[in-house]
Amino acid sequence: MRVIIQENYENMCKWAAEYIAARINAHKEERPFVLGLPTGSSPIGVYKELAAMNQAGKVSFANVVTFNMDEYIGLPHEHDQSYWYFMHDNFFDHLMDMKPENINILNGMAEDPEEECRKYEEKIASYGGIDLFMGGIGVDGHLAFNEPYTSLHSRTGVRNLTTDTRIVNSRFFGNDPEKVPAQALSVGIGTVMDSREVLVLISGHNKARALAAVVEGGVSQKWTCSAIQLHNEAIIACDEDACGEITVDTYKYFLDIEKKERL
Ligand code: GLP
Repeated sequence: MRVIIQENYENMCKWAAEYIAARINAHKEERPFVLGLPTGSSPIGVYKELAAMNQAGKVSFANVVTFNMDEYIGLPHEHDQSYWYFMHDNFFDHLMDMKPENINILNGMAEDPEEECRKYEEKIASYGGIDLFMGGIGVDGHLAFNEPYTSLHSRTGVRNLTTDTRIVNSRFFGNDPEKVPAQALSVGIGTVMDSREVLVLISGHNKARALAAVVEGGVSQKWTCSAIQLHNEAIIACDEDACGEITVDTYKYFLDIEKKERL
């Protein structure tokens, strides 16, 4: 696993955006580049950078297909807290050449949610899998909406959200946890692990415990993101603030080994 430590959130986002753009640009095959995407505050800076690079002609999304990680159950597209709305507002609407038909987001209003999830997995497979899955994590180490103790082999499906997650996410719902949907559709840890590369963003003091668990702890369903320790091409991009709980040795190790990568 690589851990890229950047000075602050802005630099972390810049690094991640440049990495993703480089991967898209290096993709010379006829089949589209398949990109997995998260929501949340962590990726917002990455989306801004990527959109600016796209507008400046530095990266094209014409041959990119995207699959989002998750969506709340019961929120229609036009709800300003649906992940569909978030993705268009923060990213897709700012791209010059993203084809709407290449955007895939789980439908939280699907009549048969299980069927929706099965079809999502099939569609990912029909493109030959995901090339690069970007993710963020919750303070409890959840990846997508795979809360603690979700199977590390899980596939796309319906998830119940923990009270903790609803409280954390209530900042977007007038600070009322009851207004946060109790369930979501989410790709599984197994779905993310099947992608060719995984890039997880971790920033801020409130994620320091999670970063330490994911990097230094063992692989455990308690911190579902820790599964990426078993991925052959996993990168964590983080900022200094998120490094508060790792040992000085670990911190120095990754700075040393990634010296060339520092912006
Ligand atoms: C939600 C999303 C996750 C996201 C997490 C962290 O729970 N389902 O995919 O990673 O929030 O969000 P933030 O980046 O805002 O801390």
